[in-house]
Amino acid sequence: MTLLTTTAAQDWIAGFTPKHFINGEFVPPASGETFEAINPSTIERIADLAQGNADDIDAAVRAARAAFDAGAWSGMDPFERSRLLTRFADIAEAHADELAELESTEMGMILPTAKAFVGVGIGALRHFAGTLANISGETTSSASNVLNFTLREPLGVVGVIIPWNVPTTGFMWKAGAAIAAGNTVVIKPAEQACLSVVRLAELAVEAGIPAGVLNVVTGDGPTAGEPLVDHPLVDKITFTGSTTVGKRIMSRAAVNVKSISLELGGKSPNIIFDDANLDLAVPYALAAFTTVNGQGCVCGTRILVQRGIKDEFVRRLAEAAEQLKLGDPLDPETTLGPLSSQEQFERVVGYLEIGKEEGAIAATGGAPTGEGYFVPATVFEASSNKLRIAQEEIFGPVATVVPFDTEEEALAIANDIEYGLASAVWTSDVQRAGRVVRGLRAGTVWVNTYFSLASNMPFGGYKQSGVGRENGMNWYLDFTHEKAVYMQL
Ligand code: NAI
Ligand code: MG
Repeated sequence: MTLLTTTAAQDWIAGFTPKHFINGEFVPPASGETFEAINPSTIERIADLAQGNADDIDAAVRAARAAFDAGAWSGMDPFERSRLLTRFADIAEAHADELAELESTEMGMILPTAKAFVGVGIGALRHFAGTLANISGETTSSASNVLNFTLREPLGVVGVIIPWNVPTTGFMWKAGAAIAAGNTVVIKPAEQACLSVVRLAELAVEAGIPAGVLNVVTGDGPTAGEPLVDHPLVDKITFTGSTTVGKRIMSRAAVNVKSISLELGGKSPNIIFDDANLDLAVPYALAAFTTVNGQGCVCGTRILVQRGIKDEFVRRLAEAAEQLKLGDPLDPETTLGPLSSQEQFERVVGYLEIGKEEGAIAATGGAPTGEGYFVPATVFEASSNKLRIAQEEIFGPVATVVPFDTEEEALAIANDIEYGLASAVWTSDVQRAGRVVRGLRAGTVWVNTYFSLASNMPFGGYKQSGVGRENGMNWYLDFTHEKAVYMQL
């Protein structure tokens, strides 16, 4: 059967050739080499992509630096820059379905989730566009014969390295914020999810954002990511991804004292007290570890349950997990797609084995199914928070349930982890909620909910979950310098 109609995403892929997006133009890779974008539900090739290397990165960084120095963007009236970013948001929104389909096809999250996270990204861009004219320095108190004030200035060229899980969100939180503050950027998307990122850069030019402000070099981490980190004309690296690569970036950035912000892994505790409303806590707990197939940095993958309700909670969670329908992420019936890549699949299946070897019992799931990279939602019951499946980021639809008795014990277990990105607490006791909120060492705490995100709220990690904050009211701090000016009158 031949399809009579095609979607905008399919049309765009059909016209796509393996090129980077540099200085407003599609340019072939310096090496001539390409790699394949793979659909993780069918393991079929979607498109060829340009394999970037140090020469491509150098060309993109020089274009970004030239655009910065030309001043058309960095020196633009902030209200005009705001207007162009709002136009970019409007155009991206008009293409939201297309962007979501590109992401869903390339990395496997179900279409409604892809649309939701495209919306999160565009919402963030609107927040930056709406508040960028508020970026300001201050006049400080001084003697009458001097005038002392500070200027908030863009940094210059920002290198943006994003992962594959929510590409539009990653693009906007990082590149959107950087350009809103007047910087120019070079984006290195993840090799598993490039298409929507290239498409967004193209749409930005359509919105009137000058060529050279947003550049995209595709390719893998060692050959394209690392030259960006090392490039002397890059003023800052903002990275989201694994803690391992984050540490490597941090040490390499030291070579030329580059500023960095890192958003790294998580193993977020979702704490369920015995007075929680389980009619809400169970479905939210399921969503917390299965959204984006559990491949989200804030996923609630460590579920701490008070002992008296543990058996009932696990039974209800397992029953709910078994209702999820695995399949093609573009099929409206599907509620759980495949893992994003073979690498992710092997990693997650490896942890299913580790869990069993450690003596954890799978209340549901526990083994892969089907042709593509499919793993069912898995709920492990663990005897202790010390197990590897309780301590390590698995990045798949796998939750580890750890029992606790008291509030003190719940907090001790929750904080007994090298990460500190997100956390949640379910209780009907407001006093307890308030104590636990203060006791948790994590950048985000949800009370009787999960996954709420607002652009005017800060996002980032404690401990090894990262450095810096994205979004929030002070979103520009990571993307501007504060210059001190002393004028003798
Ligand atoms: P990764 O950290 O290797 O990749 C993230 C980004 O960094 C990609 O764009 C990649 O090309 C780039 N990169 C890789 N090596 C680099 C290097 N040496 N220099 C510069 N850039 C480099 O993560 P990966 O391999 O996709 O996933 C491995 C694990 O990392 C996952 O299973 C998960 O645990 C974690 N992860 C966490 C994410 C988060 O949102 N915090 C996102 C993606 C992965
Ligand atoms: Mg990697």
